[in-house]
Amino acid sequence: MEVVDIIKKRRSIKEFSSKKPDWRAIIDAIDCARYAPMAGNNYTLKFILIDDKEKIAKLAEYAQQDFIAKASYVVVVCSDPTRAVNLYGERGKRYLKQQAGAAIENFLLRLTDLGLATCWIGHFDDELVKELLEIPEDIEVEAFFPIGYPQKEPQIMKHKIDLNNILYFNKYKNKKMKSPKKKVR
Ligand SMILES: Cc1cc2nc3c(=O)[nH]c(=O)nc-3n(C[C@H](O)[C@H](O)[C@H](O)COP(=O)(O)O)c2cc1C
Repeated sequence: MEVVDIIKKRRSIKEFSSKKPDWRAIIDAIDCARYAPMAGNNYTLKFILIDDKEKIAKLAEYAQQDFIAKASYVVVVCSDPTRAVNLYGERGKRYLKQQAGAAIENFLLRLTDLGLATCWIGHFDDELVKELLEIPEDIEVEAFFPIGYPQKEPQIMKHKIDLNNILYFNKYKNKKMKSPKKKVR
């Protein structure tokens, strides 16, 4: 698939088929997350691949989202802030979130490319998730991702925001691109 097709095909999917994916496909998607840009090339992310049914059920409970329990796997994405904050101070905290988003999108696009389905889970009880997975206090849980095969073929979302609503030229709120000046002879 062309990159642009994968980008448009990626969707949040909450219904999984009973077919269990090969966990190596998920490792392949995590591997793609390594290629995301990182400030100072300082890689701050960690990934936990979970196939333990009891733990997946607990994650569903801690997120108050039942569909998660039906997934074959969950990938939990964490950030280790230590080096980013040591190197860049307060700004390092901002970089941490930006590079988590960049790495996660790589991961999501490769899952889509492999025909796998997931949904970004950002709403959960951090402390309970950390306790369940023995994540140290200083590590941040960014999000987690229940993964399976989609129950039905994902459709491209028709109602994405209009480009016209998010694009400015040369200054904030300016919606018009100046036409190129005519050559003066
Ligand atoms: C930071 C973030 C947190 C999210 N948290 C949740 C969540 O807890 N539960 C959920 O069902 N979807 C969650 N989503 C998915 C969005 O609802 C979804 O991306 C949005 O509706 C657009 O749909 P699409 O992903 O199919 O394009 C989250 C997405 C992001 C980026």
